[in-house]
Amino acid sequence: MKIAIIGTGYVGLVTGTCLSELGHHVIAFDHDQAKIAALKKGQVPIYEPGLNGMIHRMVEAKRLYFSTDIEAYIHEVSATIVAVGTPSKCDGSADLSYVEVAIKRIAPLVREGSIIINKSTVPVGTAFKTSQWINDCLKAKGKKQGTVHAVSNPEFLREGAAVEDFLNPDRVIIGVSSDEAFKIARDIYAPFAAKGVPIIKTNTQTAELIKYAANAYLATRLSFINEMSDLCEKTEADIRTLSTAIGLDKRIGPHFLRPGPGYGGSCFPKDTRALLDTAKQYKQDMSIVRSSVESNDLRKANLLERVKQKWGALSGLRISLFGLTFKADTDDVRETPSFDMIKNLHHENVEMSVFDPQGADNFKIMLKNFKFESPLLHYSKDMSECLKGSDGLIILTEWAQFSTLLPEDVKTHMRHARIFDFRNILDEKIFLEAGIEYQGIGY
Ligand code: UGA
Repeated sequence: MKIAIIGTGYVGLVTGTCLSELGHHVIAFDHDQAKIAALKKGQVPIYEPGLNGMIHRMVEAKRLYFSTDIEAYIHEVSATIVAVGTPSKCDGSADLSYVEVAIKRIAPLVREGSIIINKSTVPVGTAFKTSQWINDCLKAKGKKQGTVHAVSNPEFLREGAAVEDFLNPDRVIIGVSSDEAFKIARDIYAPFAAKGVPIIKTNTQTAELIKYAANAYLATRLSFINEMSDLCEKTEADIRTLSTAIGLDKRIGPHFLRPGPGYGGSCFPKDTRALLDTAKQYKQDMSIVRSSVESNDLRKANLLERVKQKWGALSGLRISLFGLTFKADTDDVRETPSFDMIKNLHHENVEMSVFDPQGADNFKIMLKNFKFESPLLHYSKDMSECLKGSDGLIILTEWAQFSTLLPEDVKTHMRHARIFDFRNILDEKIFLEAGIEYQGIGY
């Protein structure tokens, strides 16, 4: 099938590339000329395992194209997928302006009988608005209304595992208001249906809410396990055993039970806030989601306090930090707990050396956008450089390479051999045996 993607951000790029891998012919549009020019030259703007190689293969196979010229190609496709950003507005609600601009641009151009799929995470009711925007555009062009259908088809891709998640989905959700639209959308995912992946047909409101429910549930589960982790510390219980034990209950399952410095990224924080905004509009109290958001915000704000409780005052010392991204295997630093930590260390007058395998460039850009500058902050090119002359190491992201750290590295490079591991990724025993102060979380 010929498919267009509007937006070559993280979701659009992964979706377009993987759909071409499934055998479709995909043309991915973006209004950012520099980005499209770079993609045409094979330069991929995001770090996502497996994506770079797949883009090259698909471009070579002539199943994936990049363009800024929507007008020239879009009339050829049976489905147009909108994958543009829906950032948080100041009040927490989702900003739909990019979605609206995209829909209004493409609606007059697409073929009669084709579908416009919303993959961006959008509040319940957006498909109705989309249909209205489409019909207004068709009317203005003197075309027949109701001939282009809006479909809601949310994504469930984790950054760092997005290609794998796309190609091995747990389910595909298709929210529609007509059988014709469902048939086209289902055909896109026919290879998954053939493998037995559940394809769930529902109305557009349910599809839109499924996405928010999944993210809010997972975020709530994390706030829960983080609070359990804190209680474990106070009661001399052990979160590591507790998580394993409750995860073995089939009704609970093992995932999303690792405590950490608090969830971040572009999805959980944004989507939980947007869900609360929707609840407010419908006068529905969602106290559980609200509490989980508050609990997470508080956790991130208090990270440094935990370190100080253990290590005492830090002013004037030099602290190393491993991890700037909100989790491993991504270069995304949005809402990363490391930002809260660095801000607080700066206010405590602590010299910082930081290292991240992929996130430093984006982190610098983010600090610039927030107008936050610190002469105390130094970027290191590797773990050893980051540890040099340091009075303590704080680990905030679970990059696999951090777990290769050895007691010798700590002893050779650091002035004061002590570690605060917010991800429990190191083997505590070997560090303690080497006489290094080690503090994990939740036990
Ligand atoms: C999340 C969802 O998992 C995806 O299904 C969804 O498609 C995506 O949001 C989205 O809405 O686009 P993502 O934000 O990429 O994906 O990352 P996750 O792997 O879900 O991690 C989210 C946060 O939870 C991270 O800060 C991570 O460090 C934290 N986490 C995760 C833990 O602290 N402990 C865990 O056990 C798992």
